[in-house]
Amino acid sequence: MPQDTISLPAAGEVVHLLQLTDTHLCAETGGKLLGVDTDQSLQAVIALARSERPTVDAILATGDLSDQGAETAYRRLVDYFDGLCTQHYWLTGNHDDREAMLSAAGEQRMPCCIETSNWLVVMLDSQVPGQVGGELGADQLAQLSECLEHARQASRHVLVCLHHQPVPVGCAWLDDQMVADADAFFTFLDRHTAVRGVLWGHVHQALDRERNGVALMASPSTCVQFAPGQMDFKADTAAPGYRWLDLHPDGRIETGISRVTDVVFDVDTESGGYL
Ligand SMILES: [Fe+2]
Repeated sequence: MPQDTISLPAAGEVVHLLQLTDTHLCAETGGKLLGVDTDQSLQAVIALARSERPTVDAILATGDLSDQGAETAYRRLVDYFDGLCTQHYWLTGNHDDREAMLSAAGEQRMPCCIETSNWLVVMLDSQVPGQVGGELGADQLAQLSECLEHARQASRHVLVCLHHQPVPVGCAWLDDQMVADADAFFTFLDRHTAVRGVLWGHVHQALDRERNGVALMASPSTCVQFAPGQMDFKADTAAPGYRWLDLHPDGRIETGISRVTDVVFDVDTESGGYL
């Protein structure tokens, strides 16, 4: 078993996961991103998930959890997530500070793999400190290879999570930031038939595709959304939301997106940038 693998005791045969991504919490409560109070929008998304998903075995938080890597933001996030499910696992995004995350959340929240009786969820770090774009690099690819080999030997299905998108999503400005070594990433995936899905954040929009039988999934942010199909930065008026995933023992992934409908978020869609 790879180092830093944690075992997740699932409530039943089906593993019920939630992805909450790109929470962009500011250092202090009340902080806003493009006009949206990111604590308030996250709390609305959590309330929605609590009302819709009776069983949650774990939360996958796929990066950009603080807008500026503030430890105070991560400490609030622990409390927010704990209110929904105490099993929550974090990845770094380009906005995050890994040391501050570890300090607030602890190493147990940032494992390389999460194992259940039928599944292995692989958590890959695509952050390149100081850069907006993503790259896995030799260490993360070696970790991926080790996890995939373990999954093969243990007869586990595999879900791979990372922050940056490994395929173009159709927004030129975002696709400049996709995983630089995506070809190597998919070379590893293509060698292993146990891989069922790849899940990421970063793009602040929903996307569901398939590649060689593997589900490719991107998800809304819990705060500001990005408009699909844009050459240049453009915020969207779509509401904050989350993705749910039910991992079945036979390798099927059932999944869907849910968005807040009862709160109006006043997004600044005229902004030309996103820092
Ligand atoms: Fe983000």
